[in-house]
Amino acid sequence: MTAALDAAAKADLVAAARAARERAHAPYSRFKVGAALLCADGTVVRGCNVENASYGATVCAERAAVIAAVADGRRAFAAIAVVADTPTPVTPCGICRQALAEFGTDLTVICANTAGETAEFGLLELLPHGFARG
Ligand code: THU
Repeated sequence: MTAALDAAAKADLVAAARAARERAHAPYSRFKVGAALLCADGTVVRGCNVENASYGATVCAERAAVIAAVADGRRAFAAIAVVADTPTPVTPCGICRQALAEFGTDLTVICANTAGETAEFGLLELLPHGFARG
């Protein structure tokens, strides 16, 4: 079960994602994205998009956070915040939705933009009928 997140915890998570966004390596698209993953143990793991001259080797912010968390021994997640400079709160791309679902679909996804607007979804709202091996 995902623990209920209070407003302060959500604001902290969005702030962490905003800070991570500042570290994005996005010289090709110039579209910086930050993510902050709240782990079940309360740890917050950040990610940012890291682009590559080959383009195909680019990693999104959300997957960067998941990879960092798993490498650090954390696989249970309660929420993720994602921030970009978009007119409306940015939502994770399809690949990132599937990557998040790998570790459980009971996940709150807090979408935000740099203007401070937010929108909240359950992962299953964003990824209905995602792939699973059964
Ligand atoms: N990007 C993310 O970091 N997360 C997403 O969910 C969608 C896109 C990044 C990838 C690329 O560096 C840039 O945004 C433009 O697509």
